[in-house]
Amino acid sequence: MIDFSHVYKTYQEDVVALKNIDLSINKGEFVFLTGPSGAGKTTLFKILSCYDHATSGDIRVAGYDLNKIKPSEVPFFRRKIGVIYQDFKLLSDRTVFENVALPLEVRNERQSYINKRVDEILTEVGLSHKKTKYPQQLSGGEQQRVSIARALVHHPGILIADEPTGNLDPDLSEDIIDVLDKVNAQGTTVFVATHDLDLVKRRAKRHICLEAGNMTGDTQC
Ligand SMILES: Nc1ncnc2c1ncn2[C@@H]1O[C@H](COP(=O)(O)OP(=O)(O)O)[C@@H](O)[C@H]1O
Ligand SMILES: [Mg+2]
Repeated sequence: MIDFSHVYKTYQEDVVALKNIDLSINKGEFVFLTGPSGAGKTTLFKILSCYDHATSGDIRVAGYDLNKIKPSEVPFFRRKIGVIYQDFKLLSDRTVFENVALPLEVRNERQSYINKRVDEILTEVGLSHKKTKYPQQLSGGEQQRVSIARALVHHPGILIADEPTGNLDPDLSEDIIDVLDKVNAQGTTVFVATHDLDLVKRRAKRHICLEAGNMTGDTQC
């Protein structure tokens, strides 16, 4: 599902963000990516989701060779991936329902399908009762659940979460990982970056470590 082979990323001559990354993740896995700030986690996710290109190396994701992907194929590739971020990235002038519906609207799905699918995914993340609220009327944990619903509304096979609990206190962080666990149990491949090692230690999951762009560990708990 995700294959990196000898991947390097150099921003400027002197900033090597990823060094010789070899990584293989199978369909249906749940994987944590840890490392201190600046280790290269976000860079790895940007390359994985085709928001940036590697400097060298082979990358295959969801059946696409990202060195050979044509610009016209990128939107189709992105449908295979859902992404959530530390700061939620919700639109403040749209309701919960409208935020989650957006990816389906841009694809011109039928309104009857949008209504059904958004209700279904909001129920899955436990927020169907908040669908008419605006993001600022929700707690941080609820806002992150909305962003998870938006990332999953188009049924991607892979969910990438870049520091999804970075703005949340410990209890809410555990709740968010529980939601991601449930998503994974339904078959979605989940890849979560965090610098919160305590969060990782409490879960028996595969754990990949990055340090200064090097992969320094890959353990299956
Ligand atoms: N757009 C960029 N231009 C130049 N350097 C960058 C850019 N993005 C990240 N970096 C550098 O690459 C390294 C890895 O950053 P990043 O992937 O954001 O790490 P992490 O997400 O683990 O904190 C850091 O040294 C960072 O300063
Ligand atoms: Mg980062």
